[in-house]
Amino acid sequence: MSEQPSPDELVLSSATLRVTISPFGARVTSVLAPDRDGRQGEVTVGPADARGWLDDVAYLGASVGRVANRIRHGHFSLDGVEHQLATGPDGHTLHGGPGSFDRRAWTVRSHTERPAGGEVELALVSPDGDNGFPGRVEVTAGYVLDGDLLTITYRATTDRTTPVNVTNHTYWNLAGTGSVEGHLVTVHAGRYVPVDEDLLPTGELAPVDRTPFDLRQATPIGRHLRDGHPQLLRAQGYDHTLVLDEPVTGEALRPAARLHDPASGRTLTITTDQPGIQFYSGNFLDGSVRYRGGAARQGDAVCLETQYFPDSVNQPQFPEIWLSPGEVYESRTELRLSVE
Ligand code: BGC
Repeated sequence: MSEQPSPDELVLSSATLRVTISPFGARVTSVLAPDRDGRQGEVTVGPADARGWLDDVAYLGASVGRVANRIRHGHFSLDGVEHQLATGPDGHTLHGGPGSFDRRAWTVRSHTERPAGGEVELALVSPDGDNGFPGRVEVTAGYVLDGDLLTITYRATTDRTTPVNVTNHTYWNLAGTGSVEGHLVTVHAGRYVPVDEDLLPTGELAPVDRTPFDLRQATPIGRHLRDGHPQLLRAQGYDHTLVLDEPVTGEALRPAARLHDPASGRTLTITTDQPGIQFYSGNFLDGSVRYRGGAARQGDAVCLETQYFPDSVNQPQFPEIWLSPGEVYESRTELRLSVE
């Protein structure tokens, strides 16, 4: 079970769920959900104490941006101007670069509680030149809880054209602790984004047919992890964007993914307006951090991050992520936690 929220955390409660949000990185720090016997349990991975959030390097529950995922060599050119971003140890930019949205103190704009749930809105200004990105970006993160449904909405505006691709980086474990390899995952995607040895896209959108990425039928996460597929060897597991199938005409949100824990019955169903989802099987968790339920090791949590495709700024054939003055970036993802 989760600890008491620290004083700056914001709680949203409904008859079924209890969601805790922190202004530090606009993070989801806890989600309590019932199992099929009605027993509430933690379904996200978080550190054992408050200090752990500050020390976190895994983006636990965080809002990541300005551009989630990887940008090759932290470099792109826009309207003939070359832009160099802050890079990490591998020479590329991950999740907006060091000290980005996930580590900033967001401002609490509103926190409303209602019997069926409630909402929180957080805001952040990313200044012109932030980690090398052009333009001053104003971004909001909205969390709305209504019964068993949590909706996450990101909005952003800019005063100069800049790339924007924000996502939430919650690590799910519907059993609370232990391996998620027995969780069943379904992803509504007929193609995926193969990566090179640096986990950057090769530029291809490959069919999932006859690969471990064909998750269109519910599949235990662990089923193919040891198959030796070159893409899984490269990433030490799943760490890939899947290209979500087109939404049914007229529907604002498309089915993205479903995660089901057969033991507890807990089921997470994700729909989104985003074209892709990063399926990350917690490959780099190494047991070195004390989490709420003990040490989380490789495969003890899964991230399902709705977003545009990685390195889109350097891949003209991918859907573009440029935001210009006068436009509003908006990303909406619905997370339903039920029991089946
Ligand atoms: C990335 C992983 C990375 C992780 C950071 C994920 O979104 O795809 O490669 O290690 O974030 O914890």
